[in-house]
Amino acid sequence: MSRVYVFDHPLIQHKLTFIRDKHTGTKEFRELVDEVATLMAYEITRDMPLQDVTIETPVAQCRAKMIAGKKVGLIPILRAGLGMVDGILKLIPAAKVGHVGLYRDPETLKPVEYYVKLPSDIEERDLIVIDPMLATGGSAAAALTALKQRGAKNLKLMCLIAAPEGVKVIQDEHPDVDIFVAAVDDYLNDHGYIVPGLGDAGDRLYGTK
Ligand code: PRP
Ligand code: URA
Repeated sequence: MSRVYVFDHPLIQHKLTFIRDKHTGTKEFRELVDEVATLMAYEITRDMPLQDVTIETPVAQCRAKMIAGKKVGLIPILRAGLGMVDGILKLIPAAKVGHVGLYRDPETLKPVEYYVKLPSDIEERDLIVIDPMLATGGSAAAALTALKQRGAKNLKLMCLIAAPEGVKVIQDEHPDVDIFVAAVDDYLNDHGYIVPGLGDAGDRLYGTK
């Protein structure tokens, strides 16, 4: 079953509070999401394998560590997932980026796929699917299915905030995918919004309504 990791680093939790605050404007919201994405990237890469290499320091030869050639792919779910990409690329600049476009139909709350463009070698990459919100779980589950249908094998899901309902959907439909979040909130309201959440992530990132 998917494991759920809640990143409790004080910087992540502190910045998440400002992200949640309805008085935080678009510019600051975007900057904070970018910063938290960087901090979450630091945490999610904790298990990356290292290899020993030999280098020369100005003083002597030295056995040192390097990341063992892991290929990473970032898959933001459009559009709100885009807000986290640059923050992660600051730490993993060689990652390739694929895009899955989904929006949630406001009536049915079901995801509608409108765009998929992926690196050609996704089956060889460790993929991190990124979306600030895991609400009903419909969008993330559909994105994971779309990726698996195209050959993806190693997948992680990284979100800012999850609802317990969304976590359960991923655990039921994609038990091989671990979930990395900054918070698991209380519940979904009648409109499918996470409570207390942060509101509509896409609208807050891009100033739309
Ligand atoms: C939001 C969010 C997730 C989805 C989560 O996107 O960014 O993708 O809702 O909801 P779910 O877990 O119930 O599927 P939205 O559909 O609002 O599209 P947007 O990113 O284009 O604003
Ligand atoms: N999508 C959002 O942007 N926010 C929510 O609370 C739920 C889905």
